[in-house]
This record gives sequence, structure tokens and C-alpha cells, in this order.
Amino acid sequence: MDQAQELRNLVKSNTQTKRPLARVITVTSGKGGVGKSNTSVNLALAFKKLGKRVVILDADFGLANVEIMFGTIPKHNFCDLIYQGKSITDIITWGPGDVGFISGGSGIAGLSNLSREYLTYIIQNLAYLDAIADVIIIDTGAGISDAVLEFLVASGEIIVVTTPEPPSITDSYSLIKAVNRHPRFSKENTQVKVIVNRTLKKEDGPLVYKKINTVVKRFLDLSIEYLGDVPQDQMLYDAVMQQTPVTLAHPNSKSAKAFEQITGKLMNMENVGNIKKRGMAAFFSHIVVKKNND
Ligand SMILES: Nc1ncnc2c1ncn2[C@@H]1O[C@H](COP(=O)(O)OP(=O)(O)OP(=O)(O)O)[C@@H](O)[C@H]1O
Ligand SMILES: [Mg+2]
Repeated sequence: MDQAQELRNLVKSNTQTKRPLARVITVTSGKGGVGKSNTSVNLALAFKKLGKRVVILDADFGLANVEIMFGTIPKHNFCDLIYQGKSITDIITWGPGDVGFISGGSGIAGLSNLSREYLTYIIQNLAYLDAIADVIIIDTGAGISDAVLEFLVASGEIIVVTTPEPPSITDSYSLIKAVNRHPRFSKENTQVKVIVNRTLKKEDGPLVYKKINTVVKRFLDLSIEYLGDVPQDQMLYDAVMQQTPVTLAHPNSKSAKAFEQITGKLMNMENVGNIKKRGMAAFFSHIVVKKNND
């Protein structure tokens, strides 16, 4: 049996209970600084408000985006689970609004050196994460790096955040293209969704989405979906300065309302059975298989 098959079996044997798998949503962008971390945190809080159990994984390795936004410092991180034998409960910090969050630490490298026993241990822990969370939101670093692409193709849903500025639109398309041609991307397993952030007028959102979708339809054999826009909002800026997510600091602001509306749409997609839940254990094994085949 090859290693990929062995890992798939490992995940299967550790997740084959009746427990539902978590929705794994990875938030990303072509260009940096467009609003990924704000989107991740505020969508997480909005999901929580709608009764979902949510955990955020800060995968912007080395740069602690989410903990700064939450104003809380976690004791342990994802690397401590992988390399130090910490359990999933040790590495989750419960932040404001009772949203769990996990700091990525300095990254996941050298996964090919882990023993089978140890991989089983990690997969069991991640399967536990599937049991305690309905939604797992992963905040990534900017740009089209191999590491980010690995995370994207292992997720059930990808949210590409863009702004109306032409460089951001172009970089969003480049990112979607890179995902689409990744050897382990599958349209059946990963859906690509778009949020337009920092819009000045309501019509900016659909217009920007149309620009991206036109090129995607023309050059890539892929369908993407529009989730909505988040307006440019001074209240969001103020909230960042207070190290409090805008949905908590200013729940009636236009950006907070927009995040709630988008979350409502994401919930609807689930209610009509239109999403793919892959779970966190499968997410991890997807990444390990790649590393082991390097
Ligand atoms: N809708 C908005 N209205 C006003 N300001 C915004 C909005 N969205 C983002 N910003 C500003 O942009 C900054 C960057 O946002 P954020 O940290 O979420 O981006 P990012 O994509 O995670 O950045 P990085 O690529 O560095 O991780 C925020 O601190 C805020 O000042
Ligand atoms: Mg960020």
C-alpha cells in the first residue's frame, strides 16, 4: 500500500463515526492587506451568533494576525500539537464571543519525518476538532505561495477576498488560476467563493465580481460564486485600533451588517445541501500526502 492510501485509511478509521465533519473554510487573497484577517474573525463571530461552534486557525505562520485582532495571546500553537505532543484542547484559546482560535505557530515543516503512530495521534486530535466545531475558518497569509496553495486545495471552501482596486482584481484572478491548475485541486471537493471588501458604492461589489468571473469563465473551466461585498467603513478601522473585531465593537456598523449578511448566505448554502464538508483530519492528511511525495 502506498503512503497516500495508508494515510487515507488512517483518516477513515479515525473519522468513521456518525459525527458530522466540520466545514473547513479557508480565507485567502492574491494581494496582501485586503482584509482577510478581518473577514476571518468577523465571519467566525457571525457564525457563532447563528448558533454554530467555530474555531479559527491562524495559518499566517509567524505573523500573529488573529491573536492581535482578538487581543489574546495563546499559550500553545499548532506546531506544539504536531511536534510537542500537545493535545487539541491545549492549543485552543477561547477568545471573545466564545470563538475558539488556534495560532499556527511558525509553520508546519518536516512532516515527512513523523512516524505512523504520531500521525495517528495528530489525526485523532484533528478528528476531535471536527467533533467540537461546526465551522473551522483558516486565515492565510497573502500571496500565491506553495504553502498557501496546499491549504487551499485541502479545504472544502475557499473565500478569495479582493478589493475593487485593479491590482487586487488581477491578483485574485491569478490566485484562482493557480488553485485551478494545482495538481491536487478538485472542483468536486473545493468550492471557490469571492468577497469584495472596501467597496465605496453598493454596485462596486457585483461589478468587481463580474470582472473576475468573466475572465474565470473565459479561461478556466471553473465556476465560482459571489458571496457579497463589505463596504469601506471607518468603524472597522476604529475596531482594529481597539483590537476588537468590528462585529463586537460596532455591531450596527455597515461592515458588521455586511459580514452577517455574508454569513447568512454561507449558512443558506449549507441548508440547501450545497457545500462540501471534508473535515479537519482529511485536510491535514491531504497536506501530509503532498509533503511525503516531495
Ligand atoms: N472594510 C474595511 N473598511 C475600512 N478599512 C478596512 C476594511 N477592510 C480592511 N481595512 C483596513 O485594512 C487593514 C488590513 O486588513 P486585514 O488585516 O484584515 O488584511 P489582511 O488581508 O489580513 O492583511 P495581511 O495580508 O497583511 O494578512 C485593516 O487593519 C483595516 O485598517
Ligand atoms: Mg491577515
